[in-house]
Amino acid sequence: MADSELRQRKAKAEPETTKPSSKHDDAQDDDKASFYLDILRVLSFIVVASCGLSYVVTGGSSWTWGGVRLPEYARTVYWKERLSGPMYMTPEELAQHNGADTEKPLYLAINGTIYDVSVSRHIYGPGGSYQYFGGRDAARAYVTGCFAEDAVPDMRGVEEMYLPIDDPEVDAYWTTAQMEEMKKQERAAAEEKAFNALKHWVDFFAKSKKYHRVGYLKREEGWLDKMPRRQLCAPAQKGRSKRKIPKV
Ligand SMILES: *[C@@H]1O[C@H](CO)[C@@H](O)[C@H](O)[C@H]1NC(C)=O
Repeated sequence: MADSELRQRKAKAEPETTKPSSKHDDAQDDDKASFYLDILRVLSFIVVASCGLSYVVTGGSSWTWGGVRLPEYARTVYWKERLSGPMYMTPEELAQHNGADTEKPLYLAINGTIYDVSVSRHIYGPGGSYQYFGGRDAARAYVTGCFAEDAVPDMRGVEEMYLPIDDPEVDAYWTTAQMEEMKKQERAAAEEKAFNALKHWVDFFAKSKKYHRVGYLKREEGWLDKMPRRQLCAPAQKGRSKRKIPKV
């Protein structure tokens, strides 16, 4: 016990006794240390400045130039929405965010929920392949695939694209009662398909790491009833087929 303590003390004392030039060395070490400290200062300044600039340039969505996406809670928009409640926009206000004005963020809506798609200006902005989706709720177009024609939120009748076409020759196979029952089932299945087709895109935006939700569309009461009913667009209509007679 006493022995080991002595050894420890000796070890502690050793540097001072065996290094006569320690003062000089220390001065050199200090120089080196401050040199490295300076480099470190410069480097950390560059990193912080780059992050700050990235944050400003990417509109508060990334500290790393979009390389590493921030978790949602680290984005300002996330907190903005939580602190001040969600933002509501009329369709006219949303239209101002179709990308034509590059000073404004580019928004789109799907089934009433608005997303910021500014990072994909080349796609959703003017001239982009999905330009019809920018600045509006084009829910119908996502499902029918008729981008230009169906860039509206009206989903009424979209399920028809999943319904078989009536054909007297083929349909003669079933009795009237059978046909009535079958048509009911076909319609229910078609409505579910249309819902799921839209849901696919609703979920796509909701789960996207790239786009974040900024709010909701504020539409006037009875907006849907005021829109004229539209026909199923030709390409979607073309995709329909006749009933198949079951092989027995
Ligand atoms: C679309 O919005 C309506 C009304 O808010 C909602 O009832 C429906 O479930 C939504 N559809 C999808 C596919 O999310």
